Amino acid sequence: MKNRLCDRLGIDFPIFAFTHCRDVAAAVTQAGGLGVLGTTRQSPDLLEIDLAWLDEHCGGRPYGVDLLFPANTAGEDEERLRATIPAEHQQFVAELSQQFRIGEPKDRARYSTSGDNLITTHRRGMEKWEVARSHQPALVASALGPVPREVEQDSHGWGAVVVGMVGALGQAPAHVAAGADVIVAQGTEAGGHGGRISTLVLVPQVVDEVPDTPVLAAGGIADGRQIAAAIALGAQGVWTGSLWLTTVESDLEEPVKRKLLEAGSKDAIQSRCLTGKPIRMLRTPWVDAWESGGAPPPLPAPLQGLLVRDTMTAIFDHEVEEVMGTAVGQAVGMMGKVTNVRTQMYELVDGFAGAAAAFLETVDADR
Ligand SMILES: Cc1cc2nc3c(=O)[nH]c(=O)nc-3n(C[C@H](O)[C@H](O)[C@H](O)COP(=O)(O)O)c2cc1C
Repeated sequence: MKNRLCDRLGIDFPIFAFTHCRDVAAAVTQAGGLGVLGTTRQSPDLLEIDLAWLDEHCGGRPYGVDLLFPANTAGEDEERLRATIPAEHQQFVAELSQQFRIGEPKDRARYSTSGDNLITTHRRGMEKWEVARSHQPALVASALGPVPREVEQDSHGWGAVVVGMVGALGQAPAHVAAGADVIVAQGTEAGGHGGRISTLVLVPQVVDEVPDTPVLAAGGIADGRQIAAAIALGAQGVWTGSLWLTTVESDLEEPVKRKLLEAGSKDAIQSRCLTGKPIRMLRTPWVDAWESGGAPPPLPAPLQGLLVRDTMTAIFDHEVEEVMGTAVGQAVGMMGKVTNVRTQMYELVDGFAGAAAAFLETVDADR
């Protein structure tokens, strides 16, 4: 399983784990993969604390950061934007709030310093980049469009691997032209923002689009058989996300963890109700309400995020269990038990070895 990409990064397995939880990121890295910390939840101050913690807890092994650099500046003047939200949408959110007894968030003011969850702006991305660069992570991922030039140059300056995330065909060459060393091809099965093409169909086509660049397969991968399949498709490894949400180390709220353990693949649906862009997430009565015939169509990003941000925060502030959810992919149907990260890594590697052996046996038997 160890390949050139592993050698370049100094890891044992080409298994990359996207997570918002620093404990998961460190545990994956310690177990021989590479933990990548998402940065959409923290303010720059909190990101500094998390990265300092990772420096201490990764034992000198590599970790990554994932940043969002939206190309346009929409969302930077919140007051002006807020004034453009239609009354019908405000009314719909107010009715849902009442229906589910959600209430108000505990501290609206903290948005200026912390929660960026549902609204991402280029300026905020660059503020976080300023924090990240002082820690010189081994991997820098750009999630919304090609990596900005200064980020690419800085990252390569200290030898980091730059990763470009794509969810559709035709995007990978632009990432490579901007300096990406590795492309993540994320199929529609994946949790979080995503496109419409399945991993099985997307990965080989992206591999063909950028034949000189390593590609990681993402979307729906939760066991070792799927890693073997990804390698067979031409990928150099896998980029995973959902799988780690139910680990012991994950800081996901307990009621949500419980829901994930019980959910099936059909319960992970794509909706625009959180940010205005399609996100695959756990079905909840809140999501169902937005997807029902009576709902107004979600607004384009960043307006939808602005519209629902207070309510989403209040849901978690007051633990309104019925409507608590998370982004998650179709692999949720394979996540029926809680394990620690090390055991999960072991199972992935062991499952891969079993699948690879079965594959070779089949080929031999056919000779
Ligand atoms: C809860 C959650 C949040 C995510 N947030 C981001 C993000 O902020 N940036 C990003 O590049 N990818 C994000 N992703 C997508 C992951 O990077 C990864 O591509 C995806 O989880 C892989 O598919 P899987 O969920 O089927 O493993 C998120 C995924 C999940 C499950």
